[in-house]
Amino acid sequence: MNIDRREFIKTGVVAGTLLTGAGTLITSCSGITRADLPLGHASNEAMAGLDKRHLAILKYASLAPSGHNIQPWLVKIIDANKWVIAADPARRLAAVDPNNREVMLSLGAFAENLSLAAGTFGIKAEMDIIAGSSLDQEIIEITLTESKSENYPLERITQRRTVKHGHLAKEIKKEDVMVLSHHLKGRLFYFPRGTKHAQCIEEGAIENYRIQANKVKAQQEMVKWVRLRDADAKKHRDGLTTASMEIQGFTGWFVRNFSKPEDFLKDNFRRKGVQLTEKLARQGGGWFIITSKGNTVADLIDTGRKFERLALLARERNIAIHPMTQYLEEKQGRQQIADNHDASIVPQFVLRVGYLSKYPDPVSLRRPVEWFVST
Ligand SMILES: Cc1cc2nc3c(=O)[nH]c(=O)nc-3n(C[C@H](O)[C@H](O)[C@H](O)COP(=O)(O)O)c2cc1C
Repeated sequence: MNIDRREFIKTGVVAGTLLTGAGTLITSCSGITRADLPLGHASNEAMAGLDKRHLAILKYASLAPSGHNIQPWLVKIIDANKWVIAADPARRLAAVDPNNREVMLSLGAFAENLSLAAGTFGIKAEMDIIAGSSLDQEIIEITLTESKSENYPLERITQRRTVKHGHLAKEIKKEDVMVLSHHLKGRLFYFPRGTKHAQCIEEGAIENYRIQANKVKAQQEMVKWVRLRDADAKKHRDGLTTASMEIQGFTGWFVRNFSKPEDFLKDNFRRKGVQLTEKLARQGGGWFIITSKGNTVADLIDTGRKFERLALLARERNIAIHPMTQYLEEKQGRQQIADNHDASIVPQFVLRVGYLSKYPDPVSLRRPVEWFVST
């Protein structure tokens, strides 16, 4: 990493986990997780002229990450070989993401999984951006053509997840940073824990999380996506469960059974969230910042795609990725960045990273294919 890169972030900003709890994970006590709701159903049935390969490709695509696990994707099937990825207007985060920046990044991750999975089934998925604005609904047109099969390990997609706990205080090895930045030439910046810039990011991440924790609209919006009861999680198959928030062990059991999502608005819950974020933000191997050239739809989709490639490679290398997005959502955080950097630096992801002694199984829920596909 050269000096320019190190100079890149001069002051910190924010981010954060939601509320998480202490304690040991008791699997039988974790509430509904992805393993309880297999996604296989759709892939065994014909739908909208799609064959089994198409349905499997869409299933892999849906394993993409998204802020609060809103899963903002809709796929319109024009015909078996022409699809449109759209942003679902009912799945937005208007309070923290008014311009759909994060929705576009999530659709980019979805598109990347789709493209990788299609390749393994001998299908080339050509993508054209058809949106003029990130607030448009129809975003990417996909043309599918038969092609030679690619050899991509799909278990990277099924095993990837966001991991907040257990980041080891070990610097990310140079060779791992090199591999992870492969698809992000000149757009991935690593700040090892303990360096001045990592400390700035850490403080900024905590501070902006705290700012957002005190914003009623942002918290009310988050609460809408909290699924505490198993029945609620099963009904929606999206959003944040105790397992995906990593509220573990007895605390998780208690919250799942005796709390309501609205309790997250109470002062003591918010205070705990800030305390926990502060603790987590100080753990791990440092920070990755991913930048883009600009904020066009094409820039955001491309960055979401490349972020997903990075996350898939990180999974294989036992490296946890924890986005802490409040830094970029809060005006103060964005201002701090703008005040200290050239306008050509456009940060799109603030990621806490660290090696894990054991990479945990994915737990966040996904809607089955037939819920987000329309003809
Ligand atoms: C654009 C974007 C922003 C995100 N921001 C945060 C964040 O601020 N805090 C957090 O804990 N997770 C964040 N996440 C991770 C999501 O919560 C996570 O992807 C989702 O719950 C699904 O879980 P999975 O990644 O384990 O599949 C973000 C993900 C994306 C794609």
